[in-house]
Amino acid sequence: MREQPSNTGETGGTDRVRLSCVVNGEKVSALVEPHLTLLSFLRQELKLLGVKEGCGEGECGACTVIMNGNAVNSCLTLALEAEGARILTVEGLSNGGGLSALQEEFVKHDALQCGFCTPGMLMSARALLDRNPDPGTEEIKEAVAGNLCRCTGYYPILEAITAAAKREREGEQR
Ligand code: FES
Ligand code: FES
Repeated sequence: MREQPSNTGETGGTDRVRLSCVVNGEKVSALVEPHLTLLSFLRQELKLLGVKEGCGEGECGACTVIMNGNAVNSCLTLALEAEGARILTVEGLSNGGGLSALQEEFVKHDALQCGFCTPGMLMSARALLDRNPDPGTEEIKEAVAGNLCRCTGYYPILEAITAAAKREREGEQR
């Protein structure tokens, strides 16, 4: 289990609360301030810098992670809401160090340019494909509607998710 000690203040504050959860398959336990966001917990305490901070107020989707199977804006989620939860970030998507089919299709379809939106976009897509392996275009659009991209024009992203879904349905490991 990954124990997060000092900079969360094992001894410092009186109001820190123990948070235990599973992040990318690894058990994590830390003392956190009640107001700490899940975004800050993941980035600052666990150093999972693939989780991006964009607007910080639920508008851009850059901070999207999967919590108990649902895509959530980690900037609007308190870390303590993750007590007992299973969290997946973009760092947990890869297959034994290689890219997943979903990630590969993003690359193939030029579905990323600056890449800032990509981790959040991938997590929204992953949550969709986990609950619906054969989504239509409208369902894909709806799933990523909360993820803003300034670079791609969105069409390559829709194509990439469609292609990844097909590969996964054909039995390729995700
Ligand atoms: S940083 Fe969370 S939605 Fe923009
Ligand atoms: S690739 Fe730049 S914001 Fe989407």
